[in-house]
Formats: sequence, structure tokens, C-alpha cells
Amino acid sequence: MYGITILIILLVKQDIVRSVRLVELRVPTHEREGGSALLGCQYDLEGDTLYAVKWYKDGKEFFKYAPRIQTPMKHFKLPGVHVNESRSSTTVVALENLTRESAGLYACEVSGEAPSFMTARSEKYITVHLIPDTGPKLTGLKDKYFLDDLVVSNCTTAPSTPEAHLKWLINDRPVLKRFLRGPWYRVSADRPDAIETTLQLRFTVTPSDFVDGAMKLTCQSTIAPLYQQETTSTHYIDLPLSLETPSPVSSPSTDHAIKTNWSILTVLLSVLFLRI
Ligand SMILES: *[C@@H]1O[C@H](CO)[C@@H](O)[C@H](O)[C@H]1NC(C)=O
Ligand SMILES: *[C@@H]1O[C@H](CO)[C@@H](O)[C@H](O)[C@H]1NC(C)=O
Ligand SMILES: *[C@@H]1O[C@H](CO)[C@@H](O)[C@H](O)[C@H]1NC(C)=O
Ligand SMILES: *[C@@H]1O[C@H](CO)[C@@H](O)[C@H](O)[C@H]1NC(C)=O
Repeated sequence: MYGITILIILLVKQDIVRSVRLVELRVPTHEREGGSALLGCQYDLEGDTLYAVKWYKDGKEFFKYAPRIQTPMKHFKLPGVHVNESRSSTTVVALENLTRESAGLYACEVSGEAPSFMTARSEKYITVHLIPDTGPKLTGLKDKYFLDDLVVSNCTTAPSTPEAHLKWLINDRPVLKRFLRGPWYRVSADRPDAIETTLQLRFTVTPSDFVDGAMKLTCQSTIAPLYQQETTSTHYIDLPLSLETPSPVSSPSTDHAIKTNWSILTVLLSVLFLRI
């Protein structure tokens, strides 16, 4: 039933648009504030002569190209729509200095000459994101850590729209949920639509957190599909003098394994003794 409806709509449309056929509207679906965008409108006149190409945002016309007119190109000011005419043509419109007001439904409309004035139109939505120009910030970290020290660090991404997705890694491995607090979201003071995101890492240092004496803490921030940045902080284990061995340094994880095996042995032995 649905398929038949679509077929009928297509047939009716085809009937109206006899001469001008819109081939493709090439518009980015996601852009960043402050950036620029090229909007492309590829069409097939099928023998007809071009009368005009018009561009609309949310139903309001902002660009027109009519080749038969003395000044073929014209643009009109709309909030968030800044056309650069020298980079625009019959098939492309260049927008610059995008703002949050640039987001909206963009349409390209192509019409043929008299007598038919046949028109074809296509439209697409453009979303505009506020993207930080720096990576996430880490706070609360010390230079060095001892074993059994508590590591508490906040990873914070500057205000963005939408909110960022944060992820912590220790030595490139994702951190278990129980070592995380948050995420916390704070509305930006000067942009009620922008959100600052924080995720806290909180864990007690164990020997297995060090690889070759170093512990690498990384926070990744993602605002799909436009932004992914990470910040890494590397810390060296601060061993008490008694534990420090001259070169080569024994891997702390081995110590840990031996300790574990001794404790297993102890448990086994006590079970045996209890049985006897
Ligand atoms: C349009 O783009 C050109 C080339 O990038 C640039 O030189 C010019 O300043 C721009 N015009 C406006 C009005 O921004
Ligand atoms: C974009 O902003 C720059 C800097 O303010 C300006 O020079 C340029 O003309 C603007 N572009 C358009 C198309 O308005
Ligand atoms: C981390 O962020 C929370 C919530 O904003 C705050 O209460 C806490 O003091 C921060 N801690 C550090 C170490 O920055
Ligand atoms: C500790 O025990 C595990 C198995 O439980 C074994 O694979 C490992 O080699 C042992 N480590 C040492 C240092 O004995």
C-alpha cells in the first residue's frame, strides 16, 4: 500500500516536472559554527532553458541566479546566512561565517524558461554545532603517584552543542565504569544552548597501572560527527627508596603476581590445615 502511494506520488511529480528535473542537492548535514559550507544543486534541464536557480532557508529566499538578467546573481540577507558571491554560481552557493542561526532547512529551486516555467525543488536540513577549538582539559592530577595513592581527575570539554561524549583510558585501555563519576553537564553562562561536559576518573594506584614504570591517562572527547580530540597525561611511579632497584627496574606487575600467588598458597594451606 505504502509502495503504491509512493509510486503514485512519483508519477504525479513526474507529470508536473516535465522539463526541469532536479538531479541532486548536495548539502552538508553537519557543519561547525564559524566554518563555511558549499551548497550544491545539480540539475538537468532536459532541453529547457534555465530561467532561474533560487535558494531558500526555512522558506525564505536568500540567493538567486537568473542568467538572462543584467546582474544574474543576487543574494538577500538572512540571519546566519552570509553568501560569498565570488565563490557562488548556477550550481553552487558558498556560505561563510556560519552561526547557530545558520541551521535550518535549505532548498534549491530550479525553473525553466517561458512558456512552461517548470520548476523542480529539493530540500535538506543543515545542523550547525558549536565545536571547541581545543582538546578536553584535565584537572586535579599530580606529577607523581605512589602505590595506593588515590588518583582523582576531572576531564572537561569546553561548551559545545550538543554535549560531548567523554571516555577515559589508562594505558590506552578503557576504564571500568566503577572508576568513573559523572558525566556532569553544566549549561554555559553565556550560551544557554551550549553544555560543558565533565567526567571524573577516580581510582587507587596499583602496580598493574604502570607499564614500564609509566602510567598514561587519556581522556577522549567526541562530538559526532565533527569533533574528536584527546588529552593525555603521563605519570611516572614514585617508588620508595627501599623498593628502588638499580637497573634494570623489575616490572611492578611481577611483584603483584607473586604476592597474589603467595596469598593463594596461604589460603590453600589454611584450608588444608582446617581439614586435618
Ligand atoms: C569570498 O571568498 C574569497 C576567496 O576565498 C575571498 O577572497 C573574499 O574576501 C570573500 N568575500 C567575502 C565578501 O567574504
Ligand atoms: C566572514 O567574516 C570575515 C571576517 O569578519 C569577513 O571578512 C567576510 O567578509 C565574511 N564573509 C562573508 C561572506 O560575509
Ligand atoms: C570535578 O568536578 C566536580 C563537579 O564539577 C567538582 O565538584 C570537583 O571539585 C572537581 N574535582 C577536581 C579534582 O577538579
Ligand atoms: C602465579 O599463578 C599463575 C596461575 O595462577 C601463574 O600463571 C603464574 O605464572 C604465577 N606467577 C608466579 C610469579 O609464580
